Amino acid sequence: MPDHKDLLDILRQTDGYLSGEELSRQLGVTRAAVWKKIEQLRQEGYEIDSVTRRGYRLTGVPDSISEAEIRANLSGKGTFGCRIVSLPSVDSTNEEAKRQGDAGAPHGSVFVADEQTGGKGRLGRRWVSAPGSGLWFSILLRPDVLPSEITGITLLSAVAVCRGIQSLTGCEARIKWPNDVVIGTKKVCGILTELSAEMEHVHYLIPGIGVNTNNGAFPPELSDRATSLKMETGQDIRRAVLLGKILEEFEELYNRYGVSSFPEEYRSLCVSLGRPVSLQRGGCKLTGTAVGIAPDGALLVRTQEGEEIAVTSGEVVVQGFYGEKL
Ligand code: BTN
Repeated sequence: MPDHKDLLDILRQTDGYLSGEELSRQLGVTRAAVWKKIEQLRQEGYEIDSVTRRGYRLTGVPDSISEAEIRANLSGKGTFGCRIVSLPSVDSTNEEAKRQGDAGAPHGSVFVADEQTGGKGRLGRRWVSAPGSGLWFSILLRPDVLPSEITGITLLSAVAVCRGIQSLTGCEARIKWPNDVVIGTKKVCGILTELSAEMEHVHYLIPGIGVNTNNGAFPPELSDRATSLKMETGQDIRRAVLLGKILEEFEELYNRYGVSSFPEEYRSLCVSLGRPVSLQRGGCKLTGTAVGIAPDGALLVRTQEGEEIAVTSGEVVVQGFYGEKL
């Protein structure tokens, strides 16, 4: 039986038709075995045209997140995606990354799922992750740094997502501090970074990334705040292609900045800057203007009283976004 991936690779690399005879020669198997595999691929959603005396041609690829489909779309040097775990359903890709991280999975492993039954958002929220509607994945990192030195990774991940979205769809994705990726005034992606560490040593670090790709609409309570790439472009998004692009950008940025710093580009992508914001501090509500990003990634806010404060965590409401009021 020919390897699934080998047959797909040959079809992908060929512009025109390839005869069953030529395929059986290249794969070293019988024509009957080629035919059987072609049928299997069709059942998985690949569109393969067959014409008498000319042979087979790949005409359509499904929105599959199989390992083979993801590998076919990886163009980085191979660190990020050295190991790909693709699951039909999982509680949370971050939880899967933690389980496999505890069991010794290598730096650069990627965990992706079609559906999350217990998807997690920031600040203890739930992240709805219905089958096929989004790209839900986590990257396992093992940087040799102290726990206090990982402040750049979430911001860097947000830049990688913006670049990946822009390169695939042309949409101008921007960042609402610290790491919501937005298109216009609505959120298209959230990032939850988790850490396993001792005082002096990071065991692993997991940026978990959720991009709304193919949702046609959101329920009324979310429609003011959320969007998807399909809603923005009118196009069906192939998640494996988007994942390949984000990992390629992530690899380039990670090799340049590591986990402790973040690209200057973050500041130009950050739509919170220059805007009126409000936040809770010590039980009080503060309002002011977002004026900058500190080297450790904190949001610098000039309060109405004229004091400049650094905000490192929590919810910051930005005027004009998600339909919220200051
Ligand atoms: C947020 O904006 O609140 C963060 C959302 C993060 C969602 C992603 S989806 C992949 C990974 N697995 C999870 O359970 N959460 C993150």
